[in-house]
Amino acid sequence: MTELSSNGVVAYDVADGIAWVKYNRPEKRNAQSPTLNRDMMEVIDALEYRDDVGVLVLTGEGEAFCAGMDLKEYFRDTEAQGLGGTRRAQREAYGWWRRLRWYQKPTIAMVNGWCFGGAYGPLFSCDLAFAAEEAQFGLSEINWGILPGGGATKVAVELMPFRKAMYHAMMGENIDGKTAAEWGLVNEAHPLTALKERVTAVAKALLKKNPVALKATKDAVRRVSILPYDEAEDYLIRAQEAANSYDNEGRKEGIRQFIDEKSYKPGLGVYDKSRQSA
Ligand code: ACO
Repeated sequence: MTELSSNGVVAYDVADGIAWVKYNRPEKRNAQSPTLNRDMMEVIDALEYRDDVGVLVLTGEGEAFCAGMDLKEYFRDTEAQGLGGTRRAQREAYGWWRRLRWYQKPTIAMVNGWCFGGAYGPLFSCDLAFAAEEAQFGLSEINWGILPGGGATKVAVELMPFRKAMYHAMMGENIDGKTAAEWGLVNEAHPLTALKERVTAVAKALLKKNPVALKATKDAVRRVSILPYDEAEDYLIRAQEAANSYDNEGRKEGIRQFIDEKSYKPGLGVYDKSRQSA
């Protein structure tokens, strides 16, 4: 059953362990207004520790994934309130993107259509991203006279090779989902008609894995990218030991099913976590 956020601009439903969270301003191409940013924080906050949620998918209602920041409500209207208004709006937007970057559950962006500027923040926040081949991605900031702020330039440089990022930011030309996959903005592109099926399959595969190990892994991938080798090695030792304190039985069961029971091979599949005692 689809539920709505306080102001109706985010829709969500939970089915078979997957929370499908949708930008729900299709008439405004899902542009991120302050109201939408507040509603998103409300929804992801409410879903994060629910036992029936194992994976969160972020997508958009209608033709757009998200047409970036709302140029009227996020920029013009908040600027009219002075610096305080601008800073408040930034905190609300960056706040839920940051929350999503370090979310407890694995997250997937399902980019169904337009994806511009300020949408790159939540795109990067999601651990994985799958796009419709028909989707259009653009750093359109340069087309209306600003630099790609709000993290968008950082996202471009993090995800794309330098020359691609520079061209993308300077030219304001759109790329389709296929090119976005080639350039590294998303994992894969599929025809829109096949997109949900592929995302569901990936989410289901994630649901079978040890959730403590998944959280430790996704945080580790983000953390080690900026660490020198020795510091990364040290972080990973400590992160695994911390994860063990939450879930010491899972990995022991994983070892047992492989070494003693010989019921699976970790190189070829995942252990059966439903048979884990604690
Ligand atoms: N901010 C505010 N309103 C928007 C935005 C936006 N980012 N995107 C779309 N809308 C509104 C339109 O103003 C229009 O409102 P109206 O019906 O009240 O006139 C409605 O959504 C539908 O938009 P159209 O332009 O009519 O839709 P169309 O399907 O023809 O085009 C497209 C879609 C290409 C996405 C176009 O709306 C567009 O260029 N949007 C802006 C994209 C963009 O550059 N975003 C900012 C990125 S930079 C940043 O985020 C910091």
